[in-house]
Amino acid sequence: MDLRRRQCSLSAILLSAAAVVVLLIQLAAAESPENLVFNVKSKFAGKREKDLRALKAHDAHRHSRLLSAIDLPLGGDSQPESIGLYFTKIGLGTPSRDYHVQVDTGSDILWVNCAGCISCPRKSDLVELTPYDADASSTAKSVSCSDTFCSYVNQRSECHSGSTCQYVILYGDESSTSGYLVRDVVHLDLVTGNRQTGSTNGTIIFGCGSKQSGQLGGSVSAVDGILGFGQSNSSFISQLASQRKVKRSFAHCLDNNNGGGIFTIGEVVSPKVKTTPMLSKSAHYSVNLNSIEVGNSVLELSSGAFDSGDDKGVIVDSGTTLVYLPDAVFKPLMNEILASHSELTLHTVQDSFTCFHYTDKLDRFPRVTFQFDKSASLTVTPQEYLFQLQEDTWCFGWQNGGLQTKDGGALTILGDMALSNKLVVYDIENQVIGWTNHNCSSGIQVKDEQSGAIYTVGAHNLSWSSSLAVTKLLTLVSLLIPFYCNIAL
Ligand SMILES: *[C@@H]1O[C@H](CO)[C@@H](O)[C@H](O)[C@H]1NC(C)=O
Ligand SMILES: *[C@@H]1O[C@H](CO)[C@@H](O)[C@H](O)[C@H]1NC(C)=O
Ligand SMILES: *[C@@H]1O[C@H](CO)[C@@H](O)[C@H](O)[C@H]1NC(C)=O
Ligand SMILES: *[C@@H]1O[C@H](CO)[C@@H](O)[C@H](O)[C@H]1NC(C)=O
Repeated sequence: MDLRRRQCSLSAILLSAAAVVVLLIQLAAAESPENLVFNVKSKFAGKREKDLRALKAHDAHRHSRLLSAIDLPLGGDSQPESIGLYFTKIGLGTPSRDYHVQVDTGSDILWVNCAGCISCPRKSDLVELTPYDADASSTAKSVSCSDTFCSYVNQRSECHSGSTCQYVILYGDESSTSGYLVRDVVHLDLVTGNRQTGSTNGTIIFGCGSKQSGQLGGSVSAVDGILGFGQSNSSFISQLASQRKVKRSFAHCLDNNNGGGIFTIGEVVSPKVKTTPMLSKSAHYSVNLNSIEVGNSVLELSSGAFDSGDDKGVIVDSGTTLVYLPDAVFKPLMNEILASHSELTLHTVQDSFTCFHYTDKLDRFPRVTFQFDKSASLTVTPQEYLFQLQEDTWCFGWQNGGLQTKDGGALTILGDMALSNKLVVYDIENQVIGWTNHNCSSGIQVKDEQSGAIYTVGAHNLSWSSSLAVTKLLTLVSLLIPFYCNIAL
């Protein structure tokens, strides 16, 4: 699969045994998403302002509970030859049932596979799948077209008031999910002490998936759904914040050595991170990248190498496994990394991975450092950007080509490979994002807004089945398709 050939290539991309890939491409082709335009930008064309004001007033009145910190247990890893994604476990409905969902900062809504779905995965080698059944939850309510929330996800004129609100989400490549919205209770772990949690709940509107296409329709490491942590009003964090359950701030420490890690909602007090501004007017968490250093030398890049039209800058996305770079960045980067390794014979695996035989220490490869505005920098070590395909065979996680924009630019996406083994803080309220190197096995400290107390949140490693097929290479890019993307595949 050549990523560069696609218009909007990056979403959930399965690079797998040839037969599986062919099957997925066919599935995807059958479900051409051309008519499924999800316009992120025109959510509010003004006409809904009244509804919104009413909603805000209603929310402010109804919710008097104070803000608190939430601990979302994590499982998974960022190794393409292993799991290739991070997931958490949340409870939904009454009685509550547990759902394993991928944590994704590149999209804006929570959805889960629903009972009665035609093309949802039935089986996963990773976790036991649980379809959500609204009929079995006494607190489930349908969301109608006249609900303000519906306008966040549905721009179609045929959504008449009185009928149930349908949603469609595209994740960049062929994969999509569609279904209808449901409102129900979400059960979460409230931080109540050092490495201690109690339970809390909130109300959440989410997608009940009745049709999945592309890789979301089924794969060896399928999960129950995707938990969108984007900054738009429909996201999980925005919904909880509007109920005054949490602050619009969260953090993750994705452990790439042991698996799992930390994912917490609330204000992180320690360790401190160095921040860089989020680019405004971006549909994603984007930051301004100034330069890249390989070892001690600064890469010489053409001006505007990261300039990709409307969505300037690089996207920080926990739902993407690897790092995607425009051709004008990828080539000089690889040349520089390989400059001191002329002895290597390179070969390509599954069309997109550059691999080689190697038995020496990984430390003989240079570190790669990304320099952002306000002198925030992010270093990716060879242990992070190289993965072991087989004994003595290593591959680069750097990927050439990203999401192509209408004007021919390509987006740069920093996925789990670059974000792992660091504490990454997304402070939406102050519009900054920051990180610091951190051993994800050691805890972080968060503030309980209710009492002012500081509590330690420790790492988790949700167990998963280790019977995954060995031949697959899984890389996901669960990045929401934004308005500028050309969907003609
Ligand atoms: C939500 O939490 C509150 C406070 O702990 C509890 O009283 C209530 O029963 C919970 N609601 C549900 C639906 O679990
Ligand atoms: C999102 O919600 C905030 C606060 O609830 C509100 O001020 C803002 O106008 C909303 N934005 C959109 C696009 O709905
Ligand atoms: C990270 O912390 C854990 C627990 O504190 C420790 O066992 C481990 O050796 C540390 N790892 C590194 C790479 O320092
Ligand atoms: C994390 O969980 C996975 C799957 O259950 C397991 O293979 C791995 O060894 C665990 N890591 C640690 C440090 O326990």
